[in-house]
Amino acid sequence: MTTTAPVTAGHTNEDEELMLAAVRQLVEEKVAPRAAAIDESGEFPWDVKELFAQNDLLGVPIPAEYGGLGGTFLTYVKVVEEIAKACASSSLIVAVQELGMLPIMIAGSEAQKQRFLPKIASGEHLAAYALTEVSSGSDALGSMKTRAVRDGDRYVLNGSKIWITNGSVADVVCVFAVTDPAAGSRGVSAFVLEKGMPGFSVGKKEKKMGIRGSPTVELTFDGCEVPLENRIGEEGEGFKIAMKVLDKSRPGIAAQALGIAAGALEYATNYAKERVAFGKPIGQHQGVGFMLADMKTEVEAARLLLYEAARKCDAGAPDVTQWAAMAKLKCGDVAMSVTTDAVQVLGGFGYSTEYPVERMMRDAKITQIYEGTQQIQRLVIARTLVGKAKAP
Ligand code: CAA
Repeated sequence: MTTTAPVTAGHTNEDEELMLAAVRQLVEEKVAPRAAAIDESGEFPWDVKELFAQNDLLGVPIPAEYGGLGGTFLTYVKVVEEIAKACASSSLIVAVQELGMLPIMIAGSEAQKQRFLPKIASGEHLAAYALTEVSSGSDALGSMKTRAVRDGDRYVLNGSKIWITNGSVADVVCVFAVTDPAAGSRGVSAFVLEKGMPGFSVGKKEKKMGIRGSPTVELTFDGCEVPLENRIGEEGEGFKIAMKVLDKSRPGIAAQALGIAAGALEYATNYAKERVAFGKPIGQHQGVGFMLADMKTEVEAARLLLYEAARKCDAGAPDVTQWAAMAKLKCGDVAMSVTTDAVQVLGGFGYSTEYPVERMMRDAKITQIYEGTQQIQRLVIARTLVGKAKAP
């Protein structure tokens, strides 16, 4: 196990530390003061997106030759974590930019990488990823209905996707559609759709419990013509591309979850040092002190698991599927339990929107649901241990 690997070729751990210190300062000065208002308004924070673009945070893991920072996944997850400590919605701008570009990064042609990645890295374009459908959430393959039919040098797409994070603000969306209904896992293909393509439109926006500054929408394809050069990989490779993307994006959501937990822990700890009851700070009462001790232990355990998963992404390790799922599972559950306890530590104040921990608790919940529910993570992990049951 490597714990002191350089950030990336030509970079050092010192470079990473400097970068994270700058991100911390940016978050403290510019993002944290916006977090409550972003949640309250439910609007996408374009100002925060611009801030991230100006500070090169939208292309951390994109190689320098395509306009990115050429950082490691480890650096990338640490950036997401830092932002999520203050604002989960803002951290999702960075995480979904990565999710949306990954199909191109993993399976795109050189021409597609040159065409799409520099604008994503600079923030000129926002990216999104569209896999989920009304009846195809956990069962992403078996229940997919969106069809793409080849017609000469183009495909015609019909169908819809739901729960598409940042779908209404994205300029490019990687969409997965069935090209051969009889071919099972080899019957799905991946496409890059561009804003403004005829027949490609944004539908209903969800009203959500948390991550309210991140628009979650339906996308519809009504005879949408997609040029052949926008297909990612070969026809029939789409499902594997989708799964390989999740192996690299689940650590990003785990980082978001970890950041939410760490932010809530810090707030609750400071509160417990100041709030006095029965003649002493409440943190000095064993009931609260032990809660904080457990929260801290869980956060640090989750962090170690996540960072190791990120190192495995960097190394292209063969067990990355398992580690990405374990990181997402652990960090999501820790986010939920730690934020719930943080609300408890603050008591009535924790339940008030005047304090940030109730927002953190609402934001935490989605990390147990999206990018594969916690039940799907367990299924993925179990299959890496004992295999998938054969059809009878
Ligand atoms: N890498 C490469 N190939 C993979 C793979 C991986 N990690 N996982 C599966 N595959 C391949 C399999 O080898 C198999 O190939 P063959 O048919 O050639 O053998 C094929 O893909 C099908 O795999 P399975 O047989 O395992 O498929 P399944 O239907 O039994 O189960 C699943 C697949 C793991 C349950 C998958 O459907 C899944 O992960 N579901 C959850 C979907 C999900 O995470 N959605 C999140 C949407 S994105 C989102 O939420 C983002 C956001 O808003 C921020």
